[in-house]
Amino acid sequence: MTTVDETTGVQSSFPLLFERQSTGSSAVRLPPGDVPAVDRAAALPAGSLRDTPPPLPELGEMELTRHYTGLAHRLFSIDENFYPLGSCTMKYNPVVNERAAALPGFAALHPYQWDADAPGLLELLYRLRTYLAEIAGLADVTLQPAAGAHGEMTGLMLITAYHRSRGQIRRTVLTPDTAHGTNPASCTICARRAVTVKSCKDGLVDLDALRAAVDDDTAALMITNPSTVGVYDGQIADMAEILHAKGAQLYLDGANMNAVLGIARPGDAGVDVMHYNVHKTFSTPHGCGGPGGGPVAVAQHLVPFLPIPQIARRADGTYFWDHIRPQSIGKVRSFFGQISVLVRAYTYIRALGHDGLKEVSEKAVLAANYVAARIKHRYPLPFPGPYAHEFVTIPDLERLGVREVDFAKRLLDYGIHPPTMSFPIHHCLMIEPTETESLETLDRFCAALLKMADEAEQQPDLVRHAPHRMPVRRLDEVAANRKPKVRWAPEA
Ligand SMILES: Cc1ncc(COP(=O)(O)O)c(C=O)c1O
Repeated sequence: MTTVDETTGVQSSFPLLFERQSTGSSAVRLPPGDVPAVDRAAALPAGSLRDTPPPLPELGEMELTRHYTGLAHRLFSIDENFYPLGSCTMKYNPVVNERAAALPGFAALHPYQWDADAPGLLELLYRLRTYLAEIAGLADVTLQPAAGAHGEMTGLMLITAYHRSRGQIRRTVLTPDTAHGTNPASCTICARRAVTVKSCKDGLVDLDALRAAVDDDTAALMITNPSTVGVYDGQIADMAEILHAKGAQLYLDGANMNAVLGIARPGDAGVDVMHYNVHKTFSTPHGCGGPGGGPVAVAQHLVPFLPIPQIARRADGTYFWDHIRPQSIGKVRSFFGQISVLVRAYTYIRALGHDGLKEVSEKAVLAANYVAARIKHRYPLPFPGPYAHEFVTIPDLERLGVREVDFAKRLLDYGIHPPTMSFPIHHCLMIEPTETESLETLDRFCAALLKMADEAEQQPDLVRHAPHRMPVRRLDEVAANRKPKVRWAPEA
C-alpha cells in the first residue's frame, strides 16, 4: 500500500502483510496434530479440495506486532484526537466500563446459560431496566434492540400492536423535516408511510402544520428531540395533546438524551415511546458503525406488548427471563440484547449517579453553546440558539470557492476529526463537542476553525488540497464505496 503526496510527490509506504513477509517465518509454533489423519479427498465433496495451500503471509511475531501497531498509530481515534462528529456523540468512554464488560462473569457467559448460573448479570439487567425507565419518566423498558434504529423499529411495532389491540390499523407516521434519517427509514421498514411535517424557521415543529396533518390514519408522530440540528423543542406536551386527541401516539427518538439527562423526562411531557442510544448517551466505543444498544422505554398502556423475554424479579428477590407475556410482539433480537454494551451503560450510570448524569448534560450543552458563540462571527448559524448538545453551521462556501469537504480535510491537519458534513442540511457542518472535552481543547478547536476561515479567504488552495499532514491524502471515496478492494491478490 503506497501513497503519493500530490503536492510534494513524496511516497510514504505502509507495506501489507503479504509485502512484509519472509518465507518460512512464523509467529506461532503449533504442537503436532493429535487428530487421526483422514482421507481428505474422500471426506470433502469433489472440487472442494485445493491443489496447493492458500498463499497466507508468513511473518515472525515481531513483524506482525509492528505491522498492527503501525496501523494503530495511523488511526484517527477518540483516544488520541478530538472528535466533534455531530449526531454521533463521540465522547470519551471511561476505561472502567471496559473493565466491567470484560469481567469473566459477564464476558464469558454463554447465551444458553441457565438463569440460575448468571444471577449477577440478570440483576444488572433488571436494575438497568428500572434506571432507564426512571430517566425517561416512563413505565417500563426493553433492553433487546441492538441499536438506535432497531429501537425505532421496535417502538413502531409496539405502537402498531397497541392500535391493533384497539381494533385499528393506522398507516401513517408523521416525521418533522428535522428528523434523523433513520426515522422515516424505520417507518418504511414497518410498512408505515412517513409523512413530513414542516418546522418553523427556528427548527421547532410547526404546531398548526401538525394539527392539520394528524388524522384517524396517523399511528404516531416520531420526533427526534433534541433534534439533529441541536434544537430542543419545548412543545412536546402540546404535541402529545394534539396526537392523543386523535388516538395517535408520540414517539421520541431519544438518541440525543445526553442533552437532557436529569433535566427533562420525556414521559412527564406525554411521550408514549422512546428509544435510547445507550452507546452514545451512556458511552461505548462505537466508531465505524458499532456496537450499539437501543433500549426502548414505554408508557404503561404499551407495557403488555414489550418483546419477550423480559427480565423480571420474583418475590424472593431472584431474577429470571419472563417468556409468558401473551400480548408481546415477540422477539426482536436473538437472545437478550447487546450484553456488553448494556454492562457499560449500567457501569456509566452507576459511576455518575443522578447528579453526575445531570452534569453530563449541562456540560454537553455548555460546550456546544460555547463553541457556537466563539465562531458565529465567521460561521453562519441557520438556527438561533441556545442549542442543545450540538449545532449546525453553513459556511459561506460558494463565496470562498471551497467545499465543506475541504474544510473537513483541513481540520485533520490541525489534529481534529472533522464534524459531520452536509447532514441534515446541504453544505452544513454539524458540530457536537460533547461534555468530555476540556476548555483548552474547545479553544484549540475554535482557533483552528477561525484560522481555517482565514485560510479559505487568503490561501484557498491550501484548504482545497488538504490534508497535508496525514498518512494518506484525498481518497477516492466513491470508488472505495462502489468498488471496494477487499481481497489481496498478487500483482500481475
Ligand atoms: C437522532 C438519532 N436517531 C437515530 C440514530 C440511529 O442510531 P443507530 O446508529 O444506533 O442505529 C442516530 C445515530 O446516531 C441518531 O443520532
